[in-house]
Amino acid sequence: MVNDRKVAIVGCGFVGSSSAFALMQSGLFSEMVLIDVDRDRAEGEALDISHGAPFASPMKIYAGDYKDAADAAIIVVTAGAAQKPGETRLDLVNKNVNIFKSIIPQIREVGFEGILLIVSNPVDVLTYAAIKMSGLPESRVIGSGTVLDSARLKDALGAHLGVDPRNVHAYIIGEHGDSELAVWSSANVSGVPLHDFCEMRGHFDHEASEKRIADEVKNAAYEIINKKHATYYGIAMSVKRLCTAIMRDEKHILPVSSLMVGEYGLEDIAISMPTIVGRNGVECRVPVSLDEDELAELHRSASALKDVIDQVDFNA
Ligand SMILES: NC(=O)c1ccc[n+]([C@@H]2O[C@H](COP(=O)([O-])OP(=O)(O)OC[C@H]3O[C@@H](n4cnc5c(N)ncnc54)[C@H](O)[C@@H]3O)[C@@H](O)[C@H]2O)c1
Repeated sequence: MVNDRKVAIVGCGFVGSSSAFALMQSGLFSEMVLIDVDRDRAEGEALDISHGAPFASPMKIYAGDYKDAADAAIIVVTAGAAQKPGETRLDLVNKNVNIFKSIIPQIREVGFEGILLIVSNPVDVLTYAAIKMSGLPESRVIGSGTVLDSARLKDALGAHLGVDPRNVHAYIIGEHGDSELAVWSSANVSGVPLHDFCEMRGHFDHEASEKRIADEVKNAAYEIINKKHATYYGIAMSVKRLCTAIMRDEKHILPVSSLMVGEYGLEDIAISMPTIVGRNGVECRVPVSLDEDELAELHRSASALKDVIDQVDFNA
């Protein structure tokens, strides 16, 4: 039986503990299990985060193991090595696939029936790995994908245009990484096409602005890692947003990574697309229209990922 009041987090480093902190404040759950190979780390984070709960909503937060997570509604996986300065997300692949070979079978063994939310990088490859290793229906394995990148895009566009980023409708799709792309052709601000809105705000050099902003978004993680060695607050809020969409069955459209089954001619690959997310996980992908260049870029992104997937041994 799934306990809708329980969440578990595997990996209590920067990303796992920040996500736990954000979830504690959300009021979405009343029980949270923290799991890490470094048991002291999990215990320390559980204590520290618990001490904030009296200022939010009461919550039981403790370090546990996979048996404790068996009936969780969501398991968030943030375990694994993080990027070092200069390292790409794809460089991490073998290290983190091996870590997944120890984590995912344990989740499978306890008979987990909830939603598996993958955050560790390279997130698209690891989402694919989790689908293959967990035996869960593919709709219940979700990668955080380009949810964070799309938030960065909205933030940058909001600042550029002097408008609330929540009124900006724009997506980054494709790989969460170097080959990701911004879907400029359908971007809009509350229904007003992006270029019209830009001109209303006195910006006319669309090509240069789009290139600058897309580069800024793509390189945000590198810049943050160079300056403070890790990124975690933005992703923690993305995890909270995803858990909210799932637990409240919002059917919110978020650019998560999930298994493609022929959309845009892509299959047997996990990659980010705007997707309806609800209590059952991935409900369906939303076929946003792409112009010819965007479609070609998406295919380039998918083949970069496919090349990596083809080189990895996913057998546990
Ligand atoms: N998807 C995104 O948008 C996004 C954003 C930021 C970071 N990340 C990724 O999140 C991951 C974690 O980053 P971080 O900065 O928290 O790293 P970190 O090194 O601070 O934490 C990783 C944690 O995983 C634990 N761990 C390692 N192997 C484990 C295992 N087998 N079982 C359980 N726990 C294990 C470690 O003990 C450590 O506490 C990285 O892969 C990073 O690239 C993803």
